[in-house]
Amino acid sequence: MRIDAVTIFPEYLEPLRHALLGKAIEQGILEVGVHDLRDWATGGHKSVDAPPLGGGPGMVMKPEVWGPALDSIAAGHTGTALTTSAAHRNDKLRHDDVSEVAARPYTESRDVRKGEDPDAPLLIVPTPAGVPFTQAQARAWSNERHLVFACGRYEGIDQRVFADAAQRYRVREVSIGDYVLIGGEVAVLVIAEAVTRLIPGVLGNTESHEEDSFSDGLLEGPSYTKPRVWRGIEAPAVLTSGDHAKVARFRRDEALKRTKAVRPELIDAAAAAGQLSDEDRFTLDAREVITELDVLGRVQRGVDKHLRKHLRKAGYLVDSIEWEERGADVCFGPSMLETEFERREGRPSTEPVVKLTIRGRTALPVVEATKAVVAGLPRGVDWYGSTRVVEIT
Ligand code: ADE
Repeated sequence: MRIDAVTIFPEYLEPLRHALLGKAIEQGILEVGVHDLRDWATGGHKSVDAPPLGGGPGMVMKPEVWGPALDSIAAGHTGTALTTSAAHRNDKLRHDDVSEVAARPYTESRDVRKGEDPDAPLLIVPTPAGVPFTQAQARAWSNERHLVFACGRYEGIDQRVFADAAQRYRVREVSIGDYVLIGGEVAVLVIAEAVTRLIPGVLGNTESHEEDSFSDGLLEGPSYTKPRVWRGIEAPAVLTSGDHAKVARFRRDEALKRTKAVRPELIDAAAAAGQLSDEDRFTLDAREVITELDVLGRVQRGVDKHLRKHLRKAGYLVDSIEWEERGADVCFGPSMLETEFERREGRPSTEPVVKLTIRGRTALPVVEATKAVVAGLPRGVDWYGSTRVVEIT
């Protein structure tokens, strides 16, 4: 990939030669040319701006300067080539080389609109008035051969520059967020970094960007490394269990919970795109609940196992089941269940009333959760009680 950037502050783009980008330059994956806009300015003052037509504050960048600058870059003018900031150690083993993973493009798709020449360079214009820059664009742009960035300052660049540039370029006006910077240079650094790290071979581990935040429409969950316990805080035990399926499920659950808390609109989008499984829905919708029932009737040992299985099928994941006999040490008069039993059967019950407490998680409405528990009890037992959601404080 080749990147050209036009600015009135070339030194502002110096960071493009550092770290991962510097390394990509050194490896010949990336070429970067920085151009001083004033090279195309004319007149004694080499002025690049003028007051806005129609009046108002600030200055607008002149089309007579930007037009020729973009023409000459489209024609192959290379400007000052950025070299890598430091020699990088290329002798370190890279994950993909060790695992024999071929670096692969993130996506085959490109950002070419109807009527556009797919071979024309992409002219990216950072502006707070642009469409929001997203990971999807970063992915598509990582397949480009030539990106040209036009850094505006002041009140922006005369709009006719882009109408004219559309003859030679595919023009994209993008914003990196809902705030206003002094100029486009910092936005160029942001966009260039997001795009170039997705070029095959730039990251030593192809999987690392395939699991990024946004790559599946969700934010990434929290990360942990050794030691398992640090300053008394434990990393989640599942991560050291060696059970890959459980680790994957845990990570997915954490991503879902974080996304729901921080960016709920991304959950709605994932749901609309059919990207949420039943397990995902359970993670998102389940609440902690307690079911408390008084139960009168013969309840066999071993019912717990059956209850857990039955409730799992119904969408109620059980954490604990407790049975507690009523009576004996507590002062406990005949319960409604016992009175009712005696009225119905004409004799007192030989079984005691027991209190059943189930704790777990479910997305079912509480009434349905209670019905599910009752359906898992032996037939013919009498019961009384309900399920409630545990308020997390
Ligand atoms: N230039 C000034 N503010 C900007 C923003 N938020 N995004 C992109 N370019 C900008």
